[in-house]
Amino acid sequence: MARITERPVEQASERAWASEDVGNIHFLEHVNVTQPDQALATLFYIVGMGFTRDPYLNVGLQNMWVNLGEQQFHLPTREPQVIPGHIGIVVPDLAALEARLASVQPALAHTRFSYRVEPDHVVVTCPWGNTFRCYAPHPRFGDMLLGMLYVEFLTRPGTAAGIARFYEQALGAPARVDSDAGGPAARVAIGTHQWLTFRETDAPLRPYDGHHIAIYVANFSGPYAFFQARGRIMEDVTNHQFRFKDLVDPATDEVVFTLEHEVRSLHHPMYRRPLVNRDPAQAQMRYRRGRDALVPYVG
Ligand SMILES: [Fe+2]
Repeated sequence: MARITERPVEQASERAWASEDVGNIHFLEHVNVTQPDQALATLFYIVGMGFTRDPYLNVGLQNMWVNLGEQQFHLPTREPQVIPGHIGIVVPDLAALEARLASVQPALAHTRFSYRVEPDHVVVTCPWGNTFRCYAPHPRFGDMLLGMLYVEFLTRPGTAAGIARFYEQALGAPARVDSDAGGPAARVAIGTHQWLTFRETDAPLRPYDGHHIAIYVANFSGPYAFFQARGRIMEDVTNHQFRFKDLVDPATDEVVFTLEHEVRSLHHPMYRRPLVNRDPAQAQMRYRRGRDALVPYVG
C-alpha cells in the first residue's frame, strides 16, 4: 500500500461513536482564484487536470466554473491570485493524470506550469503558481473518487493555536494543532472527509491577494453573531450567505490570518448542487457508449 502523506482530521472526542460526528462546517464547496487567460486555464484545469467546465453557470469569458466531483474552482478572469500553500485533490487515476499533464506540457511551457511524481501523489503547479497535490482514492478519504479534499495555507510562526481556537469558537468546527516534521499546523475538520490546514512557516509570505473559499455551515446564526459582535462582517447576509476575512483569535482579539470565507447556510439554493463531471478517459478513438459521465464516488 502506498504511503499516504495526508490524513483527515479525526474528531477529538473519545466518546463512543464520536467518529460519526461532524462539526459545524459541513462542506468545503469551492476555492476562488482569479486567472488572466481562459484558454490557458482550459488547457490546465480541463485538459490537463481532467476536470469539467460547468455547463450551466458562468459559461462566458468573465468567469469560469470548473467542477471536480462535488467541489469547484471559481476562476474569474483577472490578474492571477495565488494561494500560499497547496490544494489537496483526489483523482481517479494518477497514471492517467500524469499522461494528461505530459500532453499539455508543451503548450504551457512558457508559464509556471510544472508537475512531479512523488511516491503517493503528484504535485502540480498551475500556469500562475497555484499548487495542487493529487492523490489516488483511499479509504481515508471516504468514497471520494474525484474532488477537493483539503486546502493547506502557510501561516506565520506562532499563529496556529489562535487559528484553531478561532475555528472552534467562531465556527464550531473541530480543530487542533499538530506538530510534525513540517512544523506546527492547525487542522480544521470539515464534514466527513474534508479539512483545512494552516501550517506555520518561517518563509516570507506574500500579502493576502483576495482569493476565497466557500463553506456551508449548519449553525449559521452563531458564526454571524461572532463576527457581528466584533464588527468584522465583510459582506452582510444576502441570499443565505455572508462573508468575513479576518480570522480573530478569541483569546486576544488579534487577527491571526486573513482569508475571505463565503459562509453559506444549508438553506442556500446551491447547497449540494449536482455538478456535471465527465470521464476524461473518453476519447474518439476508444469511445465507450454511454460512459461520458463520471460518477465521482468510489463504487
Ligand atoms: Fe465564491
